[in-house]
Amino acid sequence: MKIVLTPFSKGGLQLKNHVVMAPMTRSRALNNLPNALMATYYKQRSEAGLIITEGTSPSPEGLGYSRIPGIFSEAQVEGWRAVTRGVHEGGSKIFLQLMHTGRIAHIANLPEGYQPVGLSTIQAVGEIFTDAEGMQEYSVPVALDIAGINRVIHDFVKAAQNAIQAGFDGVELHGANGYLLEQSLHPQVNNRTDAYGGSIENRSRLTLEIAEKIVAAIGPEKVGIRISPYSQLSDMPPYDEFEVHQTYAYLSSELNRLDIAYIHVSDNPAIPQKTHQAIREAFSNTLFIVTD
Ligand SMILES: Cc1cc2nc3c(=O)[nH]c(=O)nc-3n(C[C@H](O)[C@H](O)[C@H](O)COP(=O)(O)O)c2cc1C
Repeated sequence: MKIVLTPFSKGGLQLKNHVVMAPMTRSRALNNLPNALMATYYKQRSEAGLIITEGTSPSPEGLGYSRIPGIFSEAQVEGWRAVTRGVHEGGSKIFLQLMHTGRIAHIANLPEGYQPVGLSTIQAVGEIFTDAEGMQEYSVPVALDIAGINRVIHDFVKAAQNAIQAGFDGVELHGANGYLLEQSLHPQVNNRTDAYGGSIENRSRLTLEIAEKIVAAIGPEKVGIRISPYSQLSDMPPYDEFEVHQTYAYLSSELNRLDIAYIHVSDNPAIPQKTHQAIREAFSNTLFIVTD
């Protein structure tokens, strides 16, 4: 039998096979609520060993796209319960992807009274769809002050706890594809001069503090993260190759210290072999690699 169809077991991760469904935004969550159509969609895919959901916002200010779901209200937790129930009936595991879009947002997509936020006020170049006003340039983000950073961390932890209440087997932090956590890792998008900007340690701090607090709240075996070193998605400008390498080597070794279940690496564009090797050597639990 092909290995892909055989059970997978490593650390706390036990799956009925090696098939992992990639997270995919579907934009079907009217009013940011998971609904019956989504429950059917995920249940239909429960032959996979592990399903990673579409990016789901931990807070109203992270809802940068129209019709993406959230996991911060009681009604959202209730909606997700129907999804996890159906997937578990199919024998699959399901992790909720926590995606705070940060500056990849337009204010018209956010609920009344909220504004897109970022590590800086640097606006992303490009356009985003809004239901209200069609295609629009990305909004200029409000730079998070320290109280704002603490609020983001708190929102992520609460969202992870909500995910467990909704029946998820774990959460995946979206640290990839140009959203808030990758914005914080990136030296040209994060130009802060406080403890959350500058050195590799400082730029990794937001992601690692969120990961550490979520691990303490729900357990390391229920936490994964997606990263995309060298990706330019969502206006992430290229930066010095050695700096990228060092950033992800450091991040991986700190995540290893937290003993999280997996790192999910987007290998698109192809990551240099030495960076793959550094991640592999630094991190001993499971790696998922997504290639073209
Ligand atoms: C419509 C669409 C929505 C996506 N939504 C997400 C998402 O919510 N979270 C995420 O991490 N990746 C998302 N991705 C990226 C995919 O998970 C995948 O990595 C990417 O499509 C590369 O695989 P491919 O070359 O087979 O398309 C999305 C991709 C597409 C095409």
